[in-house]
Amino acid sequence: MDTSVCSRPLNCAQAWIAGIVRKGDRVVDATAGNGHDTLFLAHLVGEEGSVDVFDIQQEALTATEKRLREAGCLYRGVHFHAESHARMREFVAPGIRAAMFNLGYLPGGDKSVVTCMEDTLPALEATRDLLEPGGVLTVVCYPGHEGGDTEASCVSEWMKTLDPHEWRVAELSHWNAPGKAPFLLAGFRLR
Ligand SMILES: C[S@@+](CC[C@H](N)C(=O)[O-])C[C@H]1O[C@@H](n2cnc3c(N)ncnc32)[C@H](O)[C@@H]1O
Repeated sequence: MDTSVCSRPLNCAQAWIAGIVRKGDRVVDATAGNGHDTLFLAHLVGEEGSVDVFDIQQEALTATEKRLREAGCLYRGVHFHAESHARMREFVAPGIRAAMFNLGYLPGGDKSVVTCMEDTLPALEATRDLLEPGGVLTVVCYPGHEGGDTEASCVSEWMKTLDPHEWRVAELSHWNAPGKAPFLLAGFRLR
């Protein structure tokens, strides 16, 4: 195994999801950003699956669409939503296999536009209800930017509220990293 899987929360999130998502599955990318995760998910689910992608910045969705087109993965099943993920329930039917959240700001974009707990928490609640047994929810938290610490703590606390009979919650964090390093939280739905 490549050590970057363990050293980078994002890579670890993708590795865990890759072990669970199959061709034809329905999945969600809650934060499109520059489209790296959307492309990863589109590859996994293929033309017969679907990816619902959310971002409040059109710039992010445009970049994501371009990335998929250039990779030949702009499938019919990829649905772009220029909406907050807080409204996910309105656009996504129950029975999804995975949802990825990569919090924070758009790399290379406006750093004042960040995810916030007022939207992140309702989106996590929606994901909890939409995810099918056997599915997975990943959240990469960035406590390093202003407000990121509070959001990361809220997400951590929320994860602890998941019913232990139905969910396993796992974390990848760097105990010897300097400063406030990003970390990964994942909820695996058992039943
Ligand atoms: C770190 S980036 C995501 C990176 C992305 N997953 C990738 O692979 O490139 C975070 C994104 O979350 C978006 N965002 C912020 N608040 C949001 C909200 N309420 N709903 C959906 N997206 C949001 C930002 O616009 C930004 O593009």
